[in-house]
Amino acid sequence: MSSFPTGVAVVTSLDAEGTPRGMTCSSVTSVTVAPPTLLVSLRRGSAKLEAVTAHGGFAVNLLHGDGQRTAELFAGPEPDRFARVCWRRAPSGLPHLADDAFAVADCRVTGLLDVHDHTLVLGEVRTIVRNAGTPLLYGLGRFSTWPHPCPPSDNAPSH
Ligand SMILES: Cc1cc2nc3c(=O)[nH]c(=O)nc-3n(C[C@H](O)[C@H](O)[C@H](O)COP(=O)(O)O)c2cc1C
Repeated sequence: MSSFPTGVAVVTSLDAEGTPRGMTCSSVTSVTVAPPTLLVSLRRGSAKLEAVTAHGGFAVNLLHGDGQRTAELFAGPEPDRFARVCWRRAPSGLPHLADDAFAVADCRVTGLLDVHDHTLVLGEVRTIVRNAGTPLLYGLGRFSTWPHPCPPSDNAPSH
């Protein structure tokens, strides 16, 4: 599947102490329209999966073309990832990586399914924040950027 290109997201949530947690994910899929539902597949045993299930919600930060450093940070060994990025707490309480994402979807967990070494997490989208930018891409083990400019109508932030 590494030869099947995807966008790149950082899934963020809060652990039991209220500390922000997050990990880079490419397994983001749109599942249903009504209600709008996303699916992410998180490695079992990850503290980030524990945070998502305990908190009952998560944010999907869809990274823009300048977000590669953040994608690598949230997939790497750095223990305090949030100390190295600009983030803010959304009204939902969830941590948003506003500077690195062209859109952020806040989701409420509506389903969990363990499948071998990963858990599929379904989340109903509650709010969406739009920023400017076009997607960061990942495929064949490399990051790249969307080759076309952002349409003007997509440049205006909306909430
Ligand atoms: C581009 C990219 C996409 C990734 N997608 C996923 C994913 O969908 N699910 C997953 O569990 N890990 C994914 N990973 C790996 C995690 O980001 C990585 O294992 C991270 O360290 C997990 O955080 P943790 O070790 O603190 O649990 C991806 C990594 C990269 C670089």
